[in-house]
Amino acid sequence: DWTTGSIVEEQVAEIRARVGGRRAICALSGGVDSAVAAALVNRAIGDQLTCVYVDHGLMRRGETEQVEKDFVASTGVRLRVVDASERFLGALAGVTDPEEKRKIIGREFIRVFEQAQAELVAEAGAAGEDVAFLVQGTLYPDVVESGGGTGAANIKSHHNVGGLPEDLEFELIEPLRRLFKDEVRMVGQELGLPEEIVHRQPFPGPGLGIRIIGEVTRERLDVLRAADAIAREELTAAGLDRDIWQCPVVLLADVRSVGVQGDGRTYGHPVVLRPVSSEDAMTADWSRLPYDLLARISTRITNEVRDVNRVTLDITSKPPGTIEWE
Ligand code: XMP
Repeated sequence: DWTTGSIVEEQVAEIRARVGGRRAICALSGGVDSAVAAALVNRAIGDQLTCVYVDHGLMRRGETEQVEKDFVASTGVRLRVVDASERFLGALAGVTDPEEKRKIIGREFIRVFEQAQAELVAEAGAAGEDVAFLVQGTLYPDVVESGGGTGAANIKSHHNVGGLPEDLEFELIEPLRRLFKDEVRMVGQELGLPEEIVHRQPFPGPGLGIRIIGEVTRERLDVLRAADAIAREELTAAGLDRDIWQCPVVLLADVRSVGVQGDGRTYGHPVVLRPVSSEDAMTADWSRLPYDLLARISTRITNEVRDVNRVTLDITSKPPGTIEWE
């Protein structure tokens, strides 16, 4: 029967049998899918799995710590954190075009991850070929979308990762490829992952890099992180986390407006709140958040975040507006 417990048991047995004495690696993104996939594989093979988390410096407040502390504490997983923020920010310097930002972030991510992979393989020394598996949090909808079939034939697809010795191939382990999102969350719960990870709202891979309209700099990231943390805190306090799909906070870094704060004139930046309701992110509607909640978020952000003197609300559905601004 198709209970969450039996899915876990079946996958654990299958992964153990397949991996044997070899090793696997997994890129953790902070999202639900990679976290649950890693936890499941870790349950099966323990220390033979190494997770790699690339900190690109574009995460929201507390997110890297959540992976470093809560995820490790609840799974006992062996984790390697690569602090690559200098590198990402360097590559993003002067860039304002959204597509260019995405390309750069994607490219740097792959480079950093491959470097970590190569290091792991090198550390394994002569037995380097034993690092034979790459774990991915592919879900059933991803499989269907990419035109792949289901069943055993696809589970063994090979994946040649560039930047490594040519003859080194990784076999994919995709333990979630028959599951939908809600089933993945149940598996995560079964594996003892914390609520905050299991019920995490979607967050884009390029992170805050595509929520700063204009050039991405460390200072601007700090401003946005502070405003975003307040919005998230108030949404959580209002008990609305499960009612909304997500609520990006966007910094209009190249826009300034005049304000009056404390005892003087200011010339600061606006932030945009983008709360949306959605089933699958293909379409979305702007969430009708309670006015008193919006007022609290606005007051707190303008009081607590220097450089932000205006809070605006995005009331555009998707289409025509996308959920993210870039
Ligand atoms: P849009 O802005 O296209 O976003 O309406 C739809 C959903 O996808 C997320 N999103 C991304 N997720 N990498 C991701 O992993 C990306 O580059 C990316 N861009 C958008 C967005 O947060 C929303 O949930």
